[in-house]
Amino acid sequence: MRLDKFLADCGLGSRKDIKKMISKGLVTVNGTVCKAAQTAVDEGDEVYCGGKKINYEKFIYLMMNKPQGYISATEDKHKKTVLDLLGEEYKYFTLFPAGRLDIDTEGFLLLTNDGNFAHNILSPKKHVDKTYFAEINGEITSEHIKMFENGITLEDGYKTLPSTLKILKSGEKSQVEITVCEGKFHQIKRMFEAIGTHVVYLKRIAMGNLFLDENLKKGEVKKLTKEEIEKIIGGKNGHN
Ligand code: URA
Repeated sequence: MRLDKFLADCGLGSRKDIKKMISKGLVTVNGTVCKAAQTAVDEGDEVYCGGKKINYEKFIYLMMNKPQGYISATEDKHKKTVLDLLGEEYKYFTLFPAGRLDIDTEGFLLLTNDGNFAHNILSPKKHVDKTYFAEINGEITSEHIKMFENGITLEDGYKTLPSTLKILKSGEKSQVEITVCEGKFHQIKRMFEAIGTHVVYLKRIAMGNLFLDENLKKGEVKKLTKEEIEKIIGGKNGHN
């Protein structure tokens, strides 16, 4: 690939900025200053920019601890989007959220620039587990565990696939963990509405086998390693 594409894929700036850095002699390839943006390089080449080693990365995958008040979109005329939370270092990657959390839902949101990966984890056929912690107005009992296992019929007649409910606290206000393997619109809230209760707080705590890093403050992101990414596609997270 061209040297300017290599650097752009690594998020080093706009094409224009990158061409400037190259022509100024700030970029070396395998130890030699390279002033031609079209120079052919490959992933194994040793590229330095402004003295910093650039490891080629075509795709990046970020775990975000999404706060409330942000929408899971790349742009919006009126509301803040999750991309507004990202620092400068991620500005030149064309990141998007792989899946959505409601504006008032918190927790694990995956951001990537890898369209195929996003498609795969969202595909209903792949059945990637998503686990949520929820606070519910209303009593949740072991009867509900069976109902969720058998599938819940939502208000539009759709019957959900089997899901796993774990009761953490039961009473007028209950706390649960719920694992679903599909992602219908407002699914968790609608499932609890269907049993006559109401979700008052919702946080996604896992995707597949990968749990939200509790050290991430609200609004922070961390780059995922290959092993962590594989835990997502690995599917089941032991709650089912
Ligand atoms: N289900 C919901 O109802 N809301 C979310 O944000 C995610 C799952």
